[in-house]
Amino acid sequence: MVSLMRRGGHFCGASIINERWLLTAGHCVCNGLNKFFHTTQIQGVIGLHSISQYLNGNSAEQSVAINFKTIIPHPNYECSNVKNDIALLQLDTPLAFTDRVKPICVSAENPHTEYEDQLAIVSGWGWTNESQAEGHRADILKKVVVKIWNNKICEKSYKIYGRPSSLISETQLCAGFKNGGADSCWADSGGPLVMKDQILIGVVSTGIGCARPGLPGIYTRVGKYVNWIESVLRKNNT
Ligand code: ARG
Repeated sequence: MVSLMRRGGHFCGASIINERWLLTAGHCVCNGLNKFFHTTQIQGVIGLHSISQYLNGNSAEQSVAINFKTIIPHPNYECSNVKNDIALLQLDTPLAFTDRVKPICVSAENPHTEYEDQLAIVSGWGWTNESQAEGHRADILKKVVVKIWNNKICEKSYKIYGRPSSLISETQLCAGFKNGGADSCWADSGGPLVMKDQILIGVVSTGIGCARPGLPGIYTRVGKYVNWIESVLRKNNT
C-alpha cells in the first residue's frame, strides 16, 4: 500500500505490483485541469503508517519517498470520465522489498461473477466520513471489510438510490453492504481492494457519497486489465 503525495499532502492510494511499478486509478494522475500530472509533480511514500509522523520526520515511521520515471494512464482513460480508471506508475529506482514493503499479486482475467458475495478488504488514508463536518482524513492507514456485489444488482441499486442513468460496466466491480456503513471514500482512490488470499481485484475508483445504503463503492476491475498491465511492463522492461 502506497500513499501518493503532492506538495507534501496525501491525495490517493496505490499498490506495489513489482519492484518498478505501482498500480493506481486513472483519475489519481489527473491534475484537475483534465491533464495528466508530470512525473515531478507527484511522489509515492512506501512503508507508510502515520502521515503526521512521516511529515514530522519521525524515523520510526520507516517510510521512504519514491519518485516516478513515467506515468502511464490507460490509453482509453480520459480525465473527465470514470471508464478505464486505471494507471501505472514506473519508479525511477527499483524498490527493495522488506517485511513492510511488498508487492501484491494481481487477479488474472476472470468472468465478472467470480468474486460475487465474497468479502474483500479495502484500505487507505482517505476520509472517515463523506461529510467534512463529521469526518476527517485518516492519519493512520485504515482498512475495512466489504462484500463484492453482482454487477447487475449493483447497477439496479444505483439507478434507484443514485442516478437513473447509472451504468456499471464489466470492467468495474461494486463492493459494500446493502445498508451501507463500510466503504472507501475521498482520497482512498487508487488504493487496493484485496481478497483474503492476498489477490488484488480492484482499484478504488468512484461512488456516490461514501458508505450510503444501496450505493456500494465502485472499483476498477483489475482482472480486466491484466493484458494491458503485462504489455506495458514488457514494453518498458529495462
Ligand atoms: N473518487 C474518490 C477519490 O478520489 C474515491 C471515491 C470512492 N467512493 C466510494 N464511495 N467508495 O478518492
